Amino acid sequence: MQPTEIDHVAIAVLDLDAAIRYYRDTVGATLIQRELIESDGVEEALLAVADSYIQLLTPTTTDSPVARFLDRHGEGLHHLGFRVESCADAVKHYQDQGVTMVDLTPRPGSRGTSVAFVSPKSSFGTLIELVEEPHTAHLSHDEVDQDLRN
Ligand code: CO
Repeated sequence: MQPTEIDHVAIAVLDLDAAIRYYRDTVGATLIQRELIESDGVEEALLAVADSYIQLLTPTTTDSPVARFLDRHGEGLHHLGFRVESCADAVKHYQDQGVTMVDLTPRPGSRGTSVAFVSPKSSFGTLIELVEEPHTAHLSHDEVDQDLRN
């Protein structure tokens, strides 16, 4: 049940446009997409670094979890995403180990992923997200880029 990759590092920010400019133009990550995730009350930007992503999150409502996080902690590291082969299997594995889960079953994440969150109480203070890639295709970033333009 080993993660296959650090899928993404998620950072909560107040100004998404400014953060994208920094992570794209100064850090040099490749902007892959922006996506509004209404159910979570966030807008996210995904920037690729090799096979991993930086995920920038900003709240779209004042009562979303990311809005509450920013109120309490200010901007900064929000969660860590571990890429797994099967999110359902990973959830079962964590539960078998007695880990406290935020999500007891996988749910849809951004870009067609299937995700489940592990409570920071069990993960030494860091919110962990288990991420299963969409099964449609393993596209390279160039192909994803192409896909977005079509
Ligand atoms: Co995430």
